[in-house]
Amino acid sequence: MFELAEMAVIEEIKREVARRRTFAIISHPDAGKTTLTEKLLLYSGAIELAGAVKARKNQRHATSDWLEMEQSRGISITSTALQFDYQGCRFNLLDTPGHQDFSEDTYRTLMAVDSAVMVLDGAKGIEPQTKKLFDVCRMRHIPILIFINKMDQPGRPPLDLLDEIEKVLGMGAVPKNWPIGEGPDFQGVYDLEQKQVLRFQRTVRGQQRAPVWVGEIDDPQFAEEIGGPAYRQLCEDVALLAGAGFSFDRERFLKGEVAPVYFGSAIHNFGVEPFLAGLKELAPPPGARMSSHGLVAPGIEAFSGFIFKIQANMDRRHRDRMAFLRVCSGRFEKDMLVYHSRLDRKVRMTRPHRLFGRERETIEEAFAGDVVGLVNPGLFAIGDTLCSAAPLKYDGIPRFHPECFGILINRNLSKNKQFQKGLQQLEEEGVMQVLFSPDGARREPILAVVGNLQFDVVQARLQYEYDVETSVERLPYTSARWISGDADAIDKMIRLRWEGMHLQDRDGQMVALFSTERECAFHQKHYPEIEFKELK
Ligand code: G4P
Repeated sequence: MFELAEMAVIEEIKREVARRRTFAIISHPDAGKTTLTEKLLLYSGAIELAGAVKARKNQRHATSDWLEMEQSRGISITSTALQFDYQGCRFNLLDTPGHQDFSEDTYRTLMAVDSAVMVLDGAKGIEPQTKKLFDVCRMRHIPILIFINKMDQPGRPPLDLLDEIEKVLGMGAVPKNWPIGEGPDFQGVYDLEQKQVLRFQRTVRGQQRAPVWVGEIDDPQFAEEIGGPAYRQLCEDVALLAGAGFSFDRERFLKGEVAPVYFGSAIHNFGVEPFLAGLKELAPPPGARMSSHGLVAPGIEAFSGFIFKIQANMDRRHRDRMAFLRVCSGRFEKDMLVYHSRLDRKVRMTRPHRLFGRERETIEEAFAGDVVGLVNPGLFAIGDTLCSAAPLKYDGIPRFHPECFGILINRNLSKNKQFQKGLQQLEEEGVMQVLFSPDGARREPILAVVGNLQFDVVQARLQYEYDVETSVERLPYTSARWISGDADAIDKMIRLRWEGMHLQDRDGQMVALFSTERECAFHQKHYPEIEFKELK
């Protein structure tokens, strides 16, 4: 009897895992990530009318200095996790920040997804940020689906775009559909597998789903309606593609070597549904993940997951920190007792949340592939593993080494308590690392960050979220090493005073800053007794 009940539970978990699709959208700013996100929500039925996400984006901008900075630079700093259903599948869409300086944050998010959607602007093709984000995906062999957007505007020939993907990214590009008409004459897509024409009609401001006519390419009515030039071009292209011998290899797609390509216009809702259907069909459900105890399959009874992101003050009304857990196996339940590997103790999962943009609601359960928001009373750090059965640990989330350094000065000394709290919480989020002068020689903390813009983020967030005004005095160093090993040799290196600076991190470990990699390499060579680590 008991065994039967247990089998039924496992069957349910397997069913739930099989219908999960957890993905992120990566793109260069302005390619249309926000618009596509919104249209995926429209087509899944999660929202009734397009415009809501954008409206909220604007509303947020109006109320926050920090987010105004986000707007003025055309980047997205806030991350959200959206969940929606489409034709029996449950999608988890994780937002990735869109600026090059946030590669570390982006990397963490990409550790938590099973596939990625790359949005390209049909006129611009591969842009610098697309390439950077792609490199991160490649490091993890994440399967990628491509949506070539803005086909309603004059752009580049589709074959050129495919060629650029192959040349610049070194990834095979296999078209799943083909645009009908160009620029202002863009009318829909031709499904190359089903050999079907999908001709869309525009709606007012693209708020509602676009009515679609589905038919055969040799239907005379279709030929007449789309007009001679567009029809001739389509027939020529289709013949050319048949001869080009594109074929989609699922195994290579799953390794991130080949990407299916879809064309469309997110703003007009053209080609959005075929893309969503493609995502459902091709994006893989959660797979097995490597842990300290070997591969963990997602469809087992035991729950496990890891924290990939921490964010403070997501909502000023709540004033709390949210830790984001990616469930990797089994079923997560509200109030369950789980083992916290790093703290080596059990913790109760009270108040788990699901997030929809900035809205949050308490959830009762979640399955592998889902993202759960945990209100974090300082219990969780990025990379922590939580599990219900035998203690295990998922591979850590790598950190990028800092390349920019600056002294952070608190301009308002009466706010020292808030200043310290803000520093600690933002460091916990992984926004920056905080270093200190040994023996308190210098009172102000030194920030170590991956990119310059991160200084502005720290300052703006301290101001907006903790009400502390600060300034940053930039330091001329470009690289840091965590130092350990022979104490006499370390002492000698410090006494002989190189051009750099020696500091300590929060745990008291020594950190040396160097102006150039060459200078760092010189010291490494001269002090073989000392260990120089790029990361903590
Ligand atoms: P992002 O999140 O990748 O940064 O891009 P976002 O969706 O915000 O889109 C950037 C701009 O491109 C927006 O215009 C948006 O309306 C436009 N856009 C998105 N998809 C399409 C498309 O398929 N065709 C065309 N022609 N434009 C598209 P904006 O002027 O910056 O904003 P808004 O005033 O339209 O809101």
